[in-house]
Amino acid sequence: MDVQRGQWSSRMGFIFAAAGSAIGLGNIWRFPYVVGENGGAAFVLLYVVFVVVIGLPYMFAELALGRSVQRNPVGSIEAIVPGSWWKWVGFLGVLTGVGILSFYGVVAGWTVGYIFKMAMGNFTDFTSFIANPWPVLGLFALFIFITASIVYGGVEGGIERWSKILMPVLLVLLLGLIIYANTLDGASRGLTFYLKPDFSKINGSIALQALGQAFFSLSLGMGLMITYGSYLSKEENIITSGIYIGLFDTAIAIMAGLIIFPALFAMGESPTAGPALVFVVLPKLFANMPGGVLIGVLFFILLSIAALTSTISLLEVPVAYLVDEFKFPRKKIVWPAALFTFIIGIPSALSQGAVDFFTNLGWLPRALSAPDVLSHMSFLWGTFSLAFGALMLSIFVGWVWGTDKASNEIVQGSPFFIKTKFIWAFMIRYFIPVVIFILLLNIFGLF
Ligand code: TRP
Repeated sequence: MDVQRGQWSSRMGFIFAAAGSAIGLGNIWRFPYVVGENGGAAFVLLYVVFVVVIGLPYMFAELALGRSVQRNPVGSIEAIVPGSWWKWVGFLGVLTGVGILSFYGVVAGWTVGYIFKMAMGNFTDFTSFIANPWPVLGLFALFIFITASIVYGGVEGGIERWSKILMPVLLVLLLGLIIYANTLDGASRGLTFYLKPDFSKINGSIALQALGQAFFSLSLGMGLMITYGSYLSKEENIITSGIYIGLFDTAIAIMAGLIIFPALFAMGESPTAGPALVFVVLPKLFANMPGGVLIGVLFFILLSIAALTSTISLLEVPVAYLVDEFKFPRKKIVWPAALFTFIIGIPSALSQGAVDFFTNLGWLPRALSAPDVLSHMSFLWGTFSLAFGALMLSIFVGWVWGTDKASNEIVQGSPFFIKTKFIWAFMIRYFIPVVIFILLLNIFGLF
C-alpha cells in the first residue's frame, strides 16, 4: 500500500479512533434533546432499531469500500467508476464534514467554556452565556485550532493516541451520575418517559429524526467510515469491529439519557428545551450534589475530549480529500481547511442570541421547532445530508460497486461473513435505500 497515507497501528487503535469519532456531543448533547423533543421512549426504541438494522449493515459498506480502495470518499468512488457523476456523492460527504464541524465546533466551544463556568461554581445562566458573542467565538476558534493541531499530526500519532486515553474515565463518571440521578425524588417519572414507549407518538418526521440521529451518532452517511476504513489493514475484522463501535456508541447515548431524564423530571424541567437541555439540566444536578464543582469540571473536561475525537474525524475527511486528490501536503492544507470551517461556523456561533438575524430566521418556512441558524445547520447537514448521503452510498455499494465485490472485501478478516452475505446484500441493495427514500420523501410532505 501507499505508505504515505498512514495506517492504524493496531486493531484496538482503529476501534478506539472510530468509537472516538462516533462517541461525542451526538451521544450526550444531541441524543437527549432529540429524544426529549420527539416524545421519549418510542423514539428511543426506533433509534435502537435503526442502529441495528440500518446503521450497522451500512457501516460495513462504508468500511469495506474504504479499505478496498484506500482513498477518501471522492477518490474511492473515482477508483471504482472513474469520471462518473457518482464522485459528487463523495464530494457531498466532504462538504457535509465541513458543515457538521461548523456547528459542532460551536457547541464544543460551549463545552470548554463550561469547564471554567463549573470551576467558578457558576451553574446557571446558559442563555446569557451562549448569547455573549466574543467568548463564544473565541472558544469556537480555540476548539477548531486544537482539532487542526491534532489532524496536523496524521492518522496514527495524532488521532489514534488521543482516542485511546480518556474514554474509560468517561464511562465510569457516567455510571456514577446515573446512580446519583436516579436516587433523586421524582426521578422515576423520568425513567417512564425515557423507557416506556407510547407508540402513538411515532410519525414520519419523528422516524426521520431517529434515523438521522442514528447516522449522526455512528458517524455515518458522509464517508467518514470510508476514510477511516482506508487506514485499515486487510486482517481486521470489519464485522466485529463495527459491532463494537455500534455497541459502545449506543451504550453511551442510552447512559446519557439515564442521567438526563430522571434528573430533569426530578427538577421539574421540561424535556423539550432543545439544544440547551444538557447545559441546563446537568449543571443544576451538579449544583446540588456533594463535590459538584469537581464533578462538573471533570464532566465537561471529558465531554470536551469526547467532542475532540469527533471533530478530529470531521476535519480528517476534507483533509484526506485534499491530500489524496490534489497532493497537498497534509501539514500545509490543514490550516486553510480549519479556517474555512471556522468562517462557515460564525453565523451558527452568533445564532443563540448574539445577532438577531441569525437567531431568528423568521423568513424561512418553519419546518423546525427552533428558528436559529445552528438548529438549521444541524438539520441540514446532521440529519438531511447524512440520510441522503447514506441513501446514495448504499445504492453505490449495492448496485454500482456491487455486493459481491463488497462481500469479498469484508470476508477478508471476517471469514464467517460468507454465511450471512446474502442477508447483508439484500439490506444494502433494497431494504436500506427504500427505508431512507421513504423517510426523505416525507420531508417534502408527500404523505
Ligand atoms: N458521531 C459524532 C457524535 O456523535 C459526530 C460525528 C463525528 C459525525 N464524525 C462524524 C457525524 C461523521 C457524522 C459523520 O458526536
